[in-house]
Amino acid sequence: MCGIVGYIGKKPVYDILINGLKKLEYRGYDSTGVMIYNQKVLIKKSKGKVTDLESLFTNSEEKKGSVGIGHTRWATHGPPNTVNSHPHSSSSGEITIVHNGIIENYDSIKKILIKKGYKFQSDTDSEVLANLIEDVKKTKKVKLGKAVHYALKQVVGAYAVVIFDSSNPNEIVGARLGSPLAIGVGDSEYYFGSDATPFLEFTKRCIYLNDNEMFVVSLKKGLTLREIKMDSIVDPYIQELKQSIEEVEKGGYDHFMLKEIFEQPQSIIDTFRGRLISPKDPISISSIEKHFEVFKNANRIIFISCGTSWHSSLLAEYYFEELLRIPVEVEYASEFRYRNPIINKGDIVIPVSQSGETADTLAAIKLAKERGAFLYGICNVVGSSIARETHTGIYTHAGSEIGVASTKAFSCQISLLLLMALKLGEKLGTIEKTRYKRILAELNNLPKSIRKVLSKNNIIEDISKKFINSSNFLYLGRGYNFPIALEGALKLKEISYIHAEGYPAAEMKHGPIALIDEKMPVVVIATKKGSYHKVLSNVMEIKARGAEIIAIVSKNDTEIIDIADHVIEIPNCDELIAPILANIPLQLLSYHIANKKGCNVDQPRNLAKSVTVE
Ligand code: G6P
Repeated sequence: MCGIVGYIGKKPVYDILINGLKKLEYRGYDSTGVMIYNQKVLIKKSKGKVTDLESLFTNSEEKKGSVGIGHTRWATHGPPNTVNSHPHSSSSGEITIVHNGIIENYDSIKKILIKKGYKFQSDTDSEVLANLIEDVKKTKKVKLGKAVHYALKQVVGAYAVVIFDSSNPNEIVGARLGSPLAIGVGDSEYYFGSDATPFLEFTKRCIYLNDNEMFVVSLKKGLTLREIKMDSIVDPYIQELKQSIEEVEKGGYDHFMLKEIFEQPQSIIDTFRGRLISPKDPISISSIEKHFEVFKNANRIIFISCGTSWHSSLLAEYYFEELLRIPVEVEYASEFRYRNPIINKGDIVIPVSQSGETADTLAAIKLAKERGAFLYGICNVVGSSIARETHTGIYTHAGSEIGVASTKAFSCQISLLLLMALKLGEKLGTIEKTRYKRILAELNNLPKSIRKVLSKNNIIEDISKKFINSSNFLYLGRGYNFPIALEGALKLKEISYIHAEGYPAAEMKHGPIALIDEKMPVVVIATKKGSYHKVLSNVMEIKARGAEIIAIVSKNDTEIIDIADHVIEIPNCDELIAPILANIPLQLLSYHIANKKGCNVDQPRNLAKSVTVE
């Protein structure tokens, strides 16, 4: 979490920093700050959002300068106030730093520095790093690059840092271990960002730093990249980015979340491009074809992930076990990494992640790798850490997702996971041919079916009006729709702050039924086939206890339609496709409830899009 920006060159830096921070607010929005150098260091910081920071610049003189760094914070050490905001300076004011990550041994380093006379203003670990760099620089009498190198060898933890030294304002130094950092390479100018979005409009030439790499950028000497542990020079790999700036703008929608919900038909087309060619052709997934023997000989598949991606993984368990007949486990990455898990020869570990940067998922990958698992990564952000840390994998190609609550990335994950399961099932001979063909035909039609569901937006918005004052919600689903009940509940609580729980419908009678009364709205996913009639019985039980029922049903439902208070239809489809479609009305329901409550839909309190701390 936390977003970092920076620039060194000839352009006025103020707008680059402010606009860049706005693009990175999805990474944290507790406080913001910038440092601009113009003959002297100017630091301004503010609790709250980038717009609060902008209001501190009342004098245009203060905006002048062509070197600067900025930060938007998701608080870890110390409350989200102005003092704890970044940038942080060393005691003398010479070193200024922006940091994303956690320095775990900051306390012991701080005590040593205090004994040496260093003074601290904030509660942050980042200020400790600024002073440590200054101390190394002075005691070893070295330049900033060397000082950062020595200092980073002393710290334990995770970081992406960008550092400025006012005694040499033509230079910026940065490093990464565990938190992302990208460099945009312009014409005798350099941009820095936690991702490429802050500089996409200026340059498409980008270097993604690897863990344990640091850079020194000098206006005179250009860029030098170094491996920290080996202290060796690394040849920078400059990628040509394909992302467009439009992708990261709202395009006429009130919120990114709504835009991203409506982008889903296109995102699915992009996800399937080159993979699902026509209903008749086989599915083409090169990473599976290349490693088919590994899948064929697999004893077990373990999915590891967090948040919404964990819900995708749970649905994948249903898909993979049904279509491949290989045992599947689904683990929270944060649990897996700390519980001494058993990994056997022949185990495939599949991390699933939108950002490709989630700290717990990355740590779980490292552990699984050490224990000999084959790692097949699924992520959305091209070039992300998870893509690089796994043996092979596949991108979801959902496009940039800016809204903190994941929508289109989830739909693309589950659609792709189904495609993978179909591909593997067909190759392994574990899926019956006519079923395979029927589901393929439905997947080809998926963007159209999603459009039909999206056309219910007005109906869903109307329904939402009734629930803006609700305090609790229950979401029920069974079989393939159970992970969707969990995801629907998560979406609602994330953005509307209404307490919501997802449950397997049949488990309701083992506890949650005690909560049901007329004040507890219940969302039931009751699509045709599968356990429809069993879910129908649950609906009757809920009705008998007076709760208001919102039901997601298949088109032309004749039974639940008479019992539920509100009904949202999705097209008739195979039960494996139903969860993909049933999830969409739940996204819209959460969106409209949260929006009508006046919540900040795109940036819900306390959350961040990319959780790069544990
Ligand atoms: C955060 C985000 C969620 C996301 C989760 C996992 O909590 O707010 O939307 O599902 O991280 O992130 P990942 O990028 O690994 O899918």
